Amino acid sequence: MASITSSLSSLLFLATSSLLLHGSSHVTKAQTYPPLVQGLSWDFYESSCPSLEYAIRNHLRQVFNDSIAVAAGLLRLHFHDCFVQGCDGSVLLEGSASGPSEQDAPPNLSLQPAAFKTINDLRGIIESQCGRVVSCADITALAARDAVYLSGGPYYDVPLGRRDGLSFATRNQTLANIPSPRLNTSGLLTSFATKNLNAADLVALSGGHTIGIGHCPSFTNRLYPTQDPALDETFANNLYEICPASNSTNATVLDIRSPNNFDNNYFVDLLNRQGLFTSDQDLYTDSRTREIVTSFAVDQNLFFEKFIYAITKMGQLSVLTGTEGEIRANCSVTNSDSLFLPRSVEKEEIGLAKW
Ligand code: HEM
Repeated sequence: MASITSSLSSLLFLATSSLLLHGSSHVTKAQTYPPLVQGLSWDFYESSCPSLEYAIRNHLRQVFNDSIAVAAGLLRLHFHDCFVQGCDGSVLLEGSASGPSEQDAPPNLSLQPAAFKTINDLRGIIESQCGRVVSCADITALAARDAVYLSGGPYYDVPLGRRDGLSFATRNQTLANIPSPRLNTSGLLTSFATKNLNAADLVALSGGHTIGIGHCPSFTNRLYPTQDPALDETFANNLYEICPASNSTNATVLDIRSPNNFDNNYFVDLLNRQGLFTSDQDLYTDSRTREIVTSFAVDQNLFFEKFIYAITKMGQLSVLTGTEGEIRANCSVTNSDSLFLPRSVEKEEIGLAKW
């Protein structure tokens, strides 16, 4: 009897605390989101483009209906935009007379062409409704949010008002800022710390690997010349079938449990030594991040909460606001470059690059 009463009271406690934590009426914006940087606001386009968010979601529903894979491409695009030179749409720029662009740097070669096309299509739709008022950087941030939401992840608000950059970073700057999948947790913590992102942010954002795919060159370091001892044996055998040689170029899913759903199964994978990249699995090996991984594996709401916080922080990195930068007429070229014919730059083959 005593144990029934105690189980009932702990249930009641759990229910109450979860209501307090997650009951939307109790959670304020200040608790859910980090502080906004100056120049960004929640209602930036409220009068200049009231249909913006509806138009984006409506189009993306159709795109994802045809291919849910594009959702992962859009989420990764936002990350690669923000980590190099800030969230200024610079990753969207094609090479020009001034040289090869960020897109031509190894970490960006496996970004999805369909994701770039989707951003340009969205820009056209929005311009037809509101004129040229919304930046490509904001469209990318909103598309990433809807990629998460429409894949079954949490809905969150996106601070807006970013402006588009006038230049792209070099190959070396891109390599220096986008972390390699071969990095261990120490390397990742250092990389993220340069963006003022901490261990909780790193683990939560790595949860973006709950959707999408990776190509063999991103993880064959774990198979050849010797097998990474942190790999589950059956999982490793599957990977050898997908990448039969050290130079294979096939692809496989990042989250074997639910590859197209934005959920916390990525963390369950890590607990089972089934993370795909060194950079994923080491988060569970390293004592500084292990408990965070476990806490997300057992509590999806906690993962969602921390993911929202971290992606909002990431989405505000070195943004251009006010009169800085511009609003591009074409997300792939700056307005001044669009006066000239962009020089086409030969790209290395997708997925072949190691970095
Ligand atoms: C923590 C450091 C990170 C590393 C080392 C990393 C590395 C990678 C690599 C190597 C790929 C696969 C490339 C390929 O072989 O095709 C990939 C894919 C992906 N990454 Fe990350 N990533 C990191 C963080 C993030 C973050 C912060 C996000 C977003 C929140 C993210 C979202 C994605 C998504 C969605 C894909 C799948 C893309 C697709 O299917 O087209 N990653 N990442």
